Amino acid sequence: MDIKEAIKSRHSVRQFINKPIADDLREKLEKLIKECNEESGLNFHIVYDDPECFNTFLAHYGKFENARNYIVLAGKKSIEDLDERCGYYGERIVLEAQQMGLNTCWVAGTYGKGKCKSELADDEKRVCIIAIGYGANEGNKHRSKPIEKLCDIRGDEMQTWFRNGMVAAMMAPTALNQQKFFVTLENDEAVITAKKGMMTKIDLGIVKYNFEAASGHKCR
Ligand SMILES: Cc1cc2nc3c(=O)[nH]c(=O)nc-3n(C[C@H](O)[C@H](O)[C@H](O)COP(=O)(O)O)c2cc1C
Repeated sequence: MDIKEAIKSRHSVRQFINKPIADDLREKLEKLIKECNEESGLNFHIVYDDPECFNTFLAHYGKFENARNYIVLAGKKSIEDLDERCGYYGERIVLEAQQMGLNTCWVAGTYGKGKCKSELADDEKRVCIIAIGYGANEGNKHRSKPIEKLCDIRGDEMQTWFRNGMVAAMMAPTALNQQKFFVTLENDEAVITAKKGMMTKIDLGIVKYNFEAASGHKCR
C-alpha cells in the first residue's frame, strides 16, 4: 500500500479486536516514533495493553471498544508550534500504521485524561493521543466540504500536484470533522492556514502532512 492508498483507506476506527499488536509491528512502531522524536524534538511514546485509558464514560460515549493501545503525543510547552508539530508527526505515524495493517483514531477529548500513562516532565504537555490496534472495521469515509470552500484556486487553473494535495487534505482527519483550514498558492508554494477554533492547529499539522505526502511538494 503506497502513501496515497493509505490516505484514502484511513478512517477513524474506534472498535478494535482483542488482539495484542504483533512483536514485529511493535518494533517498527517504536523505530518510527524514535525517528519522529529525533526529527521533531517532541516526546511521543506508545503505551500497549492499557484499556483503562478508554475505560471512562467519555470513551464509551465516543463508542470506543477494545481500545487498549495508544500513542501519547507530547512535547515541551515552550515549543511555539507544539500542536501543529504533533499533528504533522502524528499523521506520519497514523499513515505508516495504516500501511502496516493497523487502524487508528486521533483522540483529544474522549479518553480518560487522568488514567493516561504519559511519561512527561514538568515542562512538557500532552496534546492528545492516538488509539491504535487491529480494527474490528475499517471505519467510514467522512463527509467533506467542497474543494472550493477549502482553497481559492479555480478548478481549471489547478495544477496536478496541487489537486493531488487538495484531495489528500480533504481526506485528512480533523477534530469533529471541522475542516477549518484554507489553502492558497503563493509563488508556486501551497500555504495552508488554520481558522480559529478548538484543535485547529493540530488539524493544520495533519492537513499539511497529507498535502505534502500526496503532492510531493513542501507546503508552508
Ligand atoms: C485533533 C483531533 C482530535 C480528535 N478527537 C476525537 C475524540 O476525542 N473522540 C473521537 O471519537 N474522535 C476524535 N477525533 C476523530 C475525528 O472525529 C475524525 O477524524 C473526523 O470525524 C473525521 O473522520 P475520519 O477520521 O474517519 O476521516 C479527533 C480527530 C482529530 C484530528
